[in-house]
Amino acid sequence: MSTRPIEFRVPVPHVKVPAHPVWPTLDATEKSHLKRRIKELLKANNAILVAHYYVDGDLQELAEETGGCVADSLEMARYGSTTDAATLVVCGVRFMGETAKILNPEKRVLMPDLGATCSLDEGCPADLFREFCDRHPERTVVVYANTSAEVKARADWMVTSGIALPIVRHLHERGEKILWAPDRHLGHYVQQHTGADMLLWEGSCAVHEEFKGFALERLKRLHPEAAVLVHPESPHEVLSQADVVGSTTALIKAVAQLPNKEFIVATDDGIFWKMHQLAPDKKLISAPTAGAGATCESCAHCPWMAMNSLQNLEQVLISGENAIEVAADVRRNAVRSIRRMLDFAAEHNISGALPGR
Ligand code: 13P
Ligand code: SF4
Repeated sequence: MSTRPIEFRVPVPHVKVPAHPVWPTLDATEKSHLKRRIKELLKANNAILVAHYYVDGDLQELAEETGGCVADSLEMARYGSTTDAATLVVCGVRFMGETAKILNPEKRVLMPDLGATCSLDEGCPADLFREFCDRHPERTVVVYANTSAEVKARADWMVTSGIALPIVRHLHERGEKILWAPDRHLGHYVQQHTGADMLLWEGSCAVHEEFKGFALERLKRLHPEAAVLVHPESPHEVLSQADVVGSTTALIKAVAQLPNKEFIVATDDGIFWKMHQLAPDKKLISAPTAGAGATCESCAHCPWMAMNSLQNLEQVLISGENAIEVAADVRRNAVRSIRRMLDFAAEHNISGALPGR
């Protein structure tokens, strides 16, 4: 492991974290009626749901019941091209919809709310990012999936949390120096575990940034048998206490496969739906997002992911609004960095899907 210090060179814009949207509560009859209606609309539109583990459990369930996909961002990217559906309805955040459109320009890609962005994406504006890259032309540009299509268009490679380590290790072994954006915690983690020379953008995830090292230490003392599962967008002092660090799919696999009965989970709590489904007898505890007397903004749930609901999913299927568009020149460049990742994943047998799915 290398401990080379990280250099921060670009002042990253402040990202305002929105309040969680409040959706009208539905009783069981209303919910099942709405789900039935959405199923009919999906059929009528020849549409399929592609959902992330952080969205509401009802949306994940609906995606599974209708033959769609519930997955991490690596598998969501791969999945779109494997289905015959003419419309992909992406329940997640905007970069996931853009990636689906870039890879499947012939398909219609809809999202329940186009305002569902991501603090990493918003904290890495394309113009500033291009300037940063232009100042370091000798470096291979590797960007995290959580970026705009324009940022991907300036990159050599796109990676997700599920494949960042092997790709950067591969580039490092080829002698390449890396310019990494936008997540500094994931970048630091990858740098430590590969020893690669990495220049890091200073972005962060508003949700994972809030997990607290001290409070986690205390919680671990209360649950000494619990395994600690951490997404690599979390700060170093949280990552350093983890038993398992990995993508959302890797963390779900750990709950299903490890013998522990209790797990402390440092990632968005939307993931609990799938963890409970696969391991109903295991106890899941959210990692602390605030120390004594402190408050949290996102409180372990991404406010942008929360912008997806049964209600606005139905609306978008009726109206056909909220279609993702990516300009042709941006798409032409962005598709290279995404395809490189997918080709690497196929060649090295790396999958973001859960076993048997
Ligand atoms: P995964 O690729 O691990 O699903 O992560 C996506 C994400 O946005 C995490 O915050
Ligand atoms: Fe972005 Fe963080 Fe939300 Fe994931 S959890 S979409 S990284 S803000």
